[in-house]
Amino acid sequence: MISKKQKLDFLDINKKILCWYARSARDLPFRKTRDPYKIWICEIVFQQTRISQGIAHYEKFIQRYPNVQELAQSDLDEILVYWRGLGYYSRAHNIYKASLQIMNDFGGKFPNAYEDILKLKGIGKYTAAAISSICFSGRYPAIDGNFYRVMSRFLASEYDISKTGAYKHFSEISMPLFSEGNTGDLNQAIMDLGSVICKPKKPLCKQCPIHGDCLAFANNNVEFYPVKSKKTHQKNESLTYYFIEYQNQFLAKKRNDNSIWKNLYEFPPELPSMDSSTIILERKPSTIFHQLTHKRLMITIHHVYMKTGENFSQFARENACQIIPFHNHKKISLPRPLERYIENLLEALTL
Ligand code: ADE
Repeated sequence: MISKKQKLDFLDINKKILCWYARSARDLPFRKTRDPYKIWICEIVFQQTRISQGIAHYEKFIQRYPNVQELAQSDLDEILVYWRGLGYYSRAHNIYKASLQIMNDFGGKFPNAYEDILKLKGIGKYTAAAISSICFSGRYPAIDGNFYRVMSRFLASEYDISKTGAYKHFSEISMPLFSEGNTGDLNQAIMDLGSVICKPKKPLCKQCPIHGDCLAFANNNVEFYPVKSKKTHQKNESLTYYFIEYQNQFLAKKRNDNSIWKNLYEFPPELPSMDSSTIILERKPSTIFHQLTHKRLMITIHHVYMKTGENFSQFARENACQIIPFHNHKKISLPRPLERYIENLLEALTL
């Protein structure tokens, strides 16, 4: 139960945060609009990509797909090319599926009710709350890692944020905070507070508009919060590829299984069964580590040089591979670590 006194405190905090936001909000391109389509794309892009890394991609994406109609009429391969560099391609698959849902189930108009927004593929509670509050004044807290950190410090909450009930708990205790004012600004202010001031390490408490009311600050143990017992379960997975080269061209094959990197291209996972008169295998493979949300990938790439164009084309034919000139690598969608492999190679070639 939240007492009347606490409720009043929350309203005071609400004002302090909004006041701070009016002065200090980060100047981000998507903050100039309330178009739910654009806010949706930006929320998906910035879920797993830093703002500084994602802004150019976001703007390019919006330029090519300025509305949901354009997106729904496009094809997935092209959308994946526009998603290049952002990684976590399942987000692009979901965006495409959701655009079809909006066309078919909502008459081409982005739904304005929280429950309907939540029905769209790839949209969870956080994203639905962000869109609903920013575009339709919905009174929903957008709870992500920043939100947990800011709120659990503010309240010195011992609630374990890795527990299943954490979202519900933090949603309930922050409801009074969301009972007034511009909730879209409030959510975005908390995102800014969390990334700029209330940082996981060495937070800049003196600059925080609510440090005078923050219990963790008063107790001098800000970095103790949030309480998080369970580390996300990490799996390791190994992948092996053969980067097969002939005269500045390489081979790429489309992935068609239903796992990570669905529909992206990759290098062939098998070595051509040819002898040393036709191929040269570089002795030392490259090893790349790549962190996904719940998985750490160890990718081993063997560099193979084909001695004849004939063998190169034959292997391509027999293994359903496409022949890609090095400088055309951006025309296909490769997973980020493989793309980086080629970029490094090209950089070394031009040195
Ligand atoms: N991260 C994700 N969405 C954001 C937003 N609207 N403002 C700031 N950071 C964000």
